[in-house]
Parts: sequence; structure tokens; C-alpha cells
Amino acid sequence: MKIPNILLNDGTKIPQIGLGLYLVKDENDFMSAFKCAYDNNYRLFDSAQFYKNEQFIAKAIKKYKINREDILITTKIAVNNFGYKKTLKSFDESLKKLESNYVDLILLHFPVPVLRKSSWKALEEIKEQGLAKSIGVSNYTIKHLEQLKKYANILPSVNQVELHLFLQQPELLKYCNKNNIKVEAYAPLAHGLAMDNPLVLQLAKKYKKTYAQIMLRFLIQLNLIIIPKSVTRERIIQNIDILDFEIKKEDFKSLLTLDKNLRTCWDPTRIP
Ligand SMILES: NC(=O)c1ccc[n+]([C@@H]2O[C@H](COP(=O)([O-])OP(=O)(O)OC[C@H]3O[C@@H](n4cnc5c(N)ncnc54)[C@H](OP(=O)(O)O)[C@@H]3O)[C@@H](O)[C@H]2O)c1
Repeated sequence: MKIPNILLNDGTKIPQIGLGLYLVKDENDFMSAFKCAYDNNYRLFDSAQFYKNEQFIAKAIKKYKINREDILITTKIAVNNFGYKKTLKSFDESLKKLESNYVDLILLHFPVPVLRKSSWKALEEIKEQGLAKSIGVSNYTIKHLEQLKKYANILPSVNQVELHLFLQQPELLKYCNKNNIKVEAYAPLAHGLAMDNPLVLQLAKKYKKTYAQIMLRFLIQLNLIIIPKSVTRERIIQNIDILDFEIKKEDFKSLLTLDKNLRTCWDPTRIP
């Protein structure tokens, strides 16, 4: 089934479902996950300098004879590469590892205090030079976005944040919608740490889908971009097979009650 595209504020389009690549460190795991994902219509691949696997994307493109333009690559500036010059330098290194002359989406990985302003200026320059189709941020709260608005010439196209059934972040969603910043939900399966909720189990049975598929479908119906990670063949296939059913209004409403502010990754809310 064709994956819908989401239109970003810079006019580019990004598939609504992508493959997360955090902790995919082993080259063989990477290659087989990538190939399985590509064969099953994934076109968006979410890497980062911190994941140390950008070079595997280049290898996979060559090995499987994929056109670079046929896929979209996201990478992220690591926290220790913040600052204007270091951001530009590390971005250049990422391009070399990716063996590409552009990325589709480059994000600032975290709202690093003080240095995030000059790093954003570097991303604006990267965008102006055509080295990234889109630029964005990750783990930014409303406060960080409000600050950024004051110094930015270009607003982020994407804010990639932890978002799942148990951490729904309704205020951030509302803010991003209003400001035309698309939200990309990372850890959409809550890292696999909350797979026993009775309501989700019940709905999985009702819709003849898996627990994970209910979690992911919920996010699709919120109109979010999602990047579930898996290195397991059947899960990679399952995680994209969520477009042939719809969670009914009353069930969707009950899923909204499951929000319990569960963070499974880093927490940016206390970062000044
Ligand atoms: N910007 C950021 O700060 C940030 C932070 C975290 C993550 N991310 C991005 O978001 C992506 C996704 O987040 P994540 O990897 O942390 O967590 P996730 O996608 O919520 O969960 C991944 C875990 O769930 C398991 N899993 C996958 N599909 C499943 C299924 N259908 N049924 C049961 N279990 C399943 C995976 O196991 P197997 O792999 O063993 O199948 C893995 O252990 C990352 O890979 C990364 O690209 C970004």
C-alpha cells in the first residue's frame, strides 16, 4: 500500500512512515532491516550522527542498487557537535559518510543550551546552500520553539519528539499545528516498554491487528509522521501495515485517556 506523504512548510513532502535506526549498530542487522524495509515500501530512514550508522545507509544504497533520490534520509547533529562551526563541520562529515551531496532532513538532536542558536544559524545556511532539503529540530518544547522564533530566519519544518499513546503531548501538538511545524513521533512504540495495556489489547483483538499496530495507527490518525524502529522482519512489515483500517471515533476517544506522561527517552522539559 502506498504510504501517504506529509507536506512540510518548505514545500517538500515526506512519507508519513519511516524506519527508525537508533541502536541498529550491527552492520548485518542494518543491511537486512534496510532491505526488508525498502522492499516493503519504507522510503524514509531516520539516522543520526549519534547512532554511528550513517555509513551503513551509503553501503545499503550501493549494495541494493537503490537510487539516492528514491529514498529520504534524515540525520541529526549530535549534542557534542553543536556551535556554528562544529555544526557545519560535522554536517560535512555526515555527507561524506552518507556518500551523498545532500540530506533530505537535518535536525538539531536536542535543545542544547546556549549553543542551539548558532547551530540553528548553521542549519539555515545548509538549507540555503541546498545541502539539505529540509531543516528541523528534535526534542524542542514550546518554550524552545518560542525562543527560536525570535532569532530564526527559517522556521523548522519538523520537530521530532517522543510521542506515543502514553505520552501524547497535546499542547505541543496544538502549538506545532498552529505554527505549521510537522511533528514526527519518535519512540512511537514507547521503546516496547508498555505493551500490556488492557484497552490496547482489547482493541487489537477487536480490529484483528497487533498491539503495536494499534499504537501506530493512533498516531497516524493524529496526522503525525512516525518512525518505528525494528530489526525484526515481521515487525518491520507489520509496522507499515496500518493503513487498511481505522480506529473508530469512540475507541480513539478512549485511547486519548491513556496519556500518562510516560517518557522512555531523554526529557527536554527542564532544559532552559
Ligand atoms: N530524536 C531523538 O532524540 C530520538 C530518540 C529516540 C529515538 N529516535 C528515533 O525514533 C526511532 C524509534 O524510536 P525507538 O527506536 O527509540 O523506539 P520504538 O520504535 O518505540 O521501539 C523500538 C522497540 O520496539 C520493538 N518493536 C518494534 N516493532 C515492534 C512490534 N511490531 N511489536 C513489538 N515490538 C516491536 C523493537 O524491537 P526489535 O528491533 O528487536 O524488533 C525495539 O525494541 C529510533 O530508532 C530513532 O530513529 C529519535
